[in-house]
Amino acid sequence: MSKVVEVNNINSGYGKLQIIFDISVELKKGELVTIIGPNGSGKSTLIKTIMGLVPTWSGDVIINEKINISGMKPYEVVTNNIPINYVPQINNVFPTLTVLENLKLGALPRKNIDENILMDDLDRVYNLFPRLNERYEQKAALLSGGERQMLALGRALMANPDILLLDEPTAALAPVLADEIFSKIIELKKLGISIFLVEQRATRALKISDRGYVLVSGQVAYEGAAKDLIGNERIGELYLGKR
Ligand SMILES: Nc1ncnc2c1ncn2[C@@H]1O[C@H](COP(=O)(O)OP(=O)(O)OP(=O)(O)O)[C@@H](O)[C@H]1O
Ligand SMILES: [Mg+2]
Repeated sequence: MSKVVEVNNINSGYGKLQIIFDISVELKKGELVTIIGPNGSGKSTLIKTIMGLVPTWSGDVIINEKINISGMKPYEVVTNNIPINYVPQINNVFPTLTVLENLKLGALPRKNIDENILMDDLDRVYNLFPRLNERYEQKAALLSGGERQMLALGRALMANPDILLLDEPTAALAPVLADEIFSKIIELKKLGISIFLVEQRATRALKISDRGYVLVSGQVAYEGAAKDLIGNERIGELYLGKR
């Protein structure tokens, strides 16, 4: 299977503070891969480094086995039609804009897009998240936590990405809402989108994933098939809350 994202030996951090140490991870076409690890282990920083929001100090990020985006700024990634998009952990919608305005903004990087295609993509998002359709005129600030995460996902989908990086899409949600988001992520995978998923709900996320990585102190401590990680006693004790 082809690799849609290949991260090779990247180092990165903030100012002089190194957070990511020689990380290599990959995502194959159609895969759902979860990244877990303790708070502060560098999960968000890894995702931001892949997207160019945190500059790479060294190493490569290769998309579709040909485009090296390490060193590119996020706007360069977007304007070069590289089919990758990212849903941040926090501040992932524009609260003063309506649901529809947020969704349309998601399509902005697609230059000169035909209005009919835009409407088709809007339909696709509304089919996936009917609640966004019901609330299209509502300001995003007034959405519930779960609806807001759906809007953030929907906005990312409006860029029509093949690859999605999701940073804790179920954070701060009640279990029933988290389940709803997980089922939407399964639907996104069925649409053929390849997904890197960062999650605190580690076992739950691994259960729907093909593979997983465990990040500890900015390094990959474990990696493997999701079912092997769930079955690994030491990982269970340390990172999955099992005893
Ligand atoms: N903008 C920043 N400037 C300086 N240090 C930062 C910045 N953002 C994060 N850090 C630090 O980098 C380290 C890794 O943070 P990161 O947000 O990547 O962890 P995480 O694994 O996503 O944690 P969480 O599970 O809490 O979301 C932490 O020590 C954090 O304090
Ligand atoms: Mg984080």
